[in-house]
Amino acid sequence: NDFLPGPMLLLGAPGVGKGTQAKLLMEEFGIPQISTGDLLREHRKNHTPLGMMADELMSKGQLVPDDLVNDMVADRFKQPDTEHGYILDGYPRTIQQAEWLDTQLVAYQLPVVAVNITVPEKILLERITGRRIAPSGKIYNIYTHPPKVEGLDDETGEKLEQRKDDTEEVFHERMKAFEAKTAAVIEYYRTHGGRFAEVDGDQPVEVVTQAIREALLKLRHHPDVA
Ligand code: AP5
Repeated sequence: NDFLPGPMLLLGAPGVGKGTQAKLLMEEFGIPQISTGDLLREHRKNHTPLGMMADELMSKGQLVPDDLVNDMVADRFKQPDTEHGYILDGYPRTIQQAEWLDTQLVAYQLPVVAVNITVPEKILLERITGRRIAPSGKIYNIYTHPPKVEGLDDETGEKLEQRKDDTEEVFHERMKAFEAKTAAVIEYYRTHGGRFAEVDGDQPVEVVTQAIREALLKLRHHPDVA
């Protein structure tokens, strides 16, 4: 598959598998994953002003203001590893973010590809509350991808952690933010230029990865692709 590198967006509700798929695809295509959630959690860990102001909103499942997130993404784009493309995970989340991103993408010769991953909401709750994360960023799930030893990373033996916003209550708030703001972003890419694909995320991880690969291959022949 020689369609990527280039910019790719992974879209979808909380827990559809954006992070899981981004980590697999970044290795395959040799381009970095840029997760705005991970970047914000890094700011929070380092007690930066952005991290401290984002903390409260993230804990409530609300979105961080567009300008702050766009500035953070602009900083990340300055790093040389983005030169040949990147996989954006969890961004853009609002129409304002999508429009700002459009202004940045002119720097790339390759067109952006947007992939929307879909999973029924009742399955997402189990994915979110069951998620555990290793210090390396490796993602587990106590129901669907448990570690070999309960609570410990298979590779390093380090303790797995649960995200503060991975409770049932905050999940419902995150879903509300998704429906109020991010659903429109999916429509924006569906109706804007056509380099858009939808993938059923309610299948084993490797089947979803393969479906994304196939979608990318089909989009390769899209008339908008140079
Ligand atoms: P963010 O970190 O982006 O969270 P999210 O979008 O809610 O997405 P998740 O990370 O929860 O899910 P995912 O789709 O990556 O799923 P994963 O692969 O981990 O955002 C957090 C907060 O930060 C936001 O609420 C907001 O406050 C703020 N924020 C972030 N970006 C922002 C932005 N652009 N603008 C404003 N605010 C922003 O998988 C989930 C679980 O399912 C795992 O346990 C995994 O093992 C399992 N799983 C994955 N795939 C499968 C499969 N195929 N089958 C079975 N299990 C699977």
